[in-house]
Amino acid sequence: MHLQLTWQGQILEFELEEGDTWADVAEDFAERIGAEATKVSFYVSPKMANVKGFMKHPFPSDKLNSIDAQDLAKLRIKAVGTPSAQVAKLDADLLRHAQRMNARQQARQASRSVKSNSNRDWQQIQDEAKYTFHAIEPLQYLPNPEKSKRYLERLASDPGIKASMRKHKFSVGLLTEMNPAEHTTHESKTLGLNRNRGEVIELRLRTDSYDGYRDYKVIRKTLCHELSHNIHSDHDRKFWDLTKQIEKEVDQNDHLHGGHKLSSDEFYVADDSYDESHADLGGWQGGEFVLGGTSSSQGLTRREIMARAAESRLRREREAVEREESNLADENRSAGS
Ligand code: NI
Repeated sequence: MHLQLTWQGQILEFELEEGDTWADVAEDFAERIGAEATKVSFYVSPKMANVKGFMKHPFPSDKLNSIDAQDLAKLRIKAVGTPSAQVAKLDADLLRHAQRMNARQQARQASRSVKSNSNRDWQQIQDEAKYTFHAIEPLQYLPNPEKSKRYLERLASDPGIKASMRKHKFSVGLLTEMNPAEHTTHESKTLGLNRNRGEVIELRLRTDSYDGYRDYKVIRKTLCHELSHNIHSDHDRKFWDLTKQIEKEVDQNDHLHGGHKLSSDEFYVADDSYDESHADLGGWQGGEFVLGGTSSSQGLTRREIMARAAESRLRREREAVEREESNLADENRSAGS
């Protein structure tokens, strides 16, 4: 028996023994790409009665020879997995980078005469690269994804949100929007969701009819709530104390920056208001997150999101270093002139 998987655009061929199961295929695939067998997954199309559309650990122990040979030949299997070496390399890159930065910073401190603010600025640049949203993705299958992306970016760069994230050392893998159709029941309308303490934060940016967006301050308040779930999963006293504190910090920053002219804001909606009881059902833990939820089998898995987030973090830190270096060069030039 013969089976093909596609993985990262490559076709991988597998020869199966009589009686091999999906679990065996997953193990062979993981071994081939050097990944952990518990961390790979398969998307299978077209739909067939006796084959699951999405499989992950623990893989079904159904035997593949129970599938009709013609059906088996028709299966398209998209395999997802990241080689352990790649994950380890990413981690090692980050560590080496951090070490290099520290060494440079020490060298600078040593060579610098009395420079009052530079250190604090550098710390702030480093913190901003660390305590942020490492990836921002709208749902591509909903109308106008560029506008959603702009909305999410606006939230991520909100001075109050940034300051609060730095203060509480909040790091979020992915900031994305929620499909209103997927979290609406008669009893509740979930406004936001925080998965696994900051792995993913989803916000309901859009109105239920998809034709518009909810008010910026309403969504930002939801974001304060979701950020608080980075620390506390349950809606207990400690959770609400932290949430109020974050909201206060964000409001204070508005005043500090002169306050936004709301009525001229792209995302201002006059008649929208925040209803605390609708925020969510508490921090959400476990499971495999797929960007685009059930509507798309092309979604990104949690592992891919985290790998992307780590890459983006590395890139941001590099950019921060470059900015810092060019600032230093400017300082040196003006000091010399
Ligand atoms: Ni909540």
